[in-house]
Amino acid sequence: MKIDGTPYRSVWVDEQDGWAVRILDQTKLPWSVDILRLTNLTEAAHAIRSMQVRGAPLIGAVAAYGLALALRADASNEAMERDAQLLNETRPTAVNLRWALDRMLARLRRVSAHERVAAAYHEAALIADEDVAQCESIGTHGAVLIAEIAAHKPGRRVNILTHCNAGWLATVDWGTALAPVYKAFEQKIDLHVWVDETRPRNQGAFLTAFELGKHGVPHTVIADNAGGHLMQHGEVDIVIVGTDRVTRSGDVANKIGTYLKALAASDNNVPFWVGCPSSTIDWNVADGVREIPIEERSGSEVATITGRALDGTLATVRVVPSGSHTANPAFDVTPARLVTGLITERGICAATEAGLLSLFPERRAA
Ligand code: MRU
Repeated sequence: MKIDGTPYRSVWVDEQDGWAVRILDQTKLPWSVDILRLTNLTEAAHAIRSMQVRGAPLIGAVAAYGLALALRADASNEAMERDAQLLNETRPTAVNLRWALDRMLARLRRVSAHERVAAAYHEAALIADEDVAQCESIGTHGAVLIAEIAAHKPGRRVNILTHCNAGWLATVDWGTALAPVYKAFEQKIDLHVWVDETRPRNQGAFLTAFELGKHGVPHTVIADNAGGHLMQHGEVDIVIVGTDRVTRSGDVANKIGTYLKALAASDNNVPFWVGCPSSTIDWNVADGVREIPIEERSGSEVATITGRALDGTLATVRVVPSGSHTANPAFDVTPARLVTGLITERGICAATEAGLLSLFPERRAA
């Protein structure tokens, strides 16, 4: 996708030296577009932990490149296993992190230490390129859903509600929830996106609004609490969100607040779809509420908010009385019964084990 006419991916290898890893610093968006250069394991792990990069598919891709950077320093078996473990512990909820690192290790355990660095860059590039292709395919399948809605309301725009940021910034390119939006927009379907601000870190207001705006997609940022009201008044035709982990039975972990949107959508007969690349399906887990680890982040994210002050400077202000306690669970789980369906790179399916297995029959014995 483009920023001011320049095409970007959210992670890439430095064209000058051919080995450092470049990322957009997402803690600085939308205020400035800063490109960071990661050169070692510590910097890669910090980028994921501090959310300079975030979004389930993207942290998987950056972890893969992070392991390649780590191997440049020490390509022994012991170091490789230790460094992969360190990267795996940077964030707990998105399964893409473990998926990418398991895939890297499976490949790299088969090659000798002196071939490992080249093999690691090769595998990380495959992971990144496949993510782009999968997300584009999610876009193609999801755009059909938007086109169907458009066909039933000629002359009126399709209103899509999304939560958090599951656009190209959260993946290597295209996005998951937003890929169908970009594809439908390309097809000239008249559409508009309601963007949940997504407190406490405001990924909706900061990142989704930024990327939709840079692409020219009509959108409106709303307070997190506005979605139910808009649905009651017929202002939402479809909800599309991303996900950090989908269980084999179709439960969906995503940014905190997603579950409330699914409840409101169910009460108002608004279809609730989830953009889900296969790298986000955890075939080992069935009960999302009980089995998916939920990241607990610092209460300071709830107690403070950062924005641009009227004098143009960035300011972080406290919005909670000092002395009040804060809690900050970063994800929640939407039970499969509230999910209309999953949009994967292989097509759409019901959020059930049978639905998933119909698209991924090779997982039947898993
Ligand atoms: O904490 P974040 O910003 O990494 O959370 C991101 C989300 O919850 C996204 O919706 C999810 O990763 C889907 S990414 C395409």
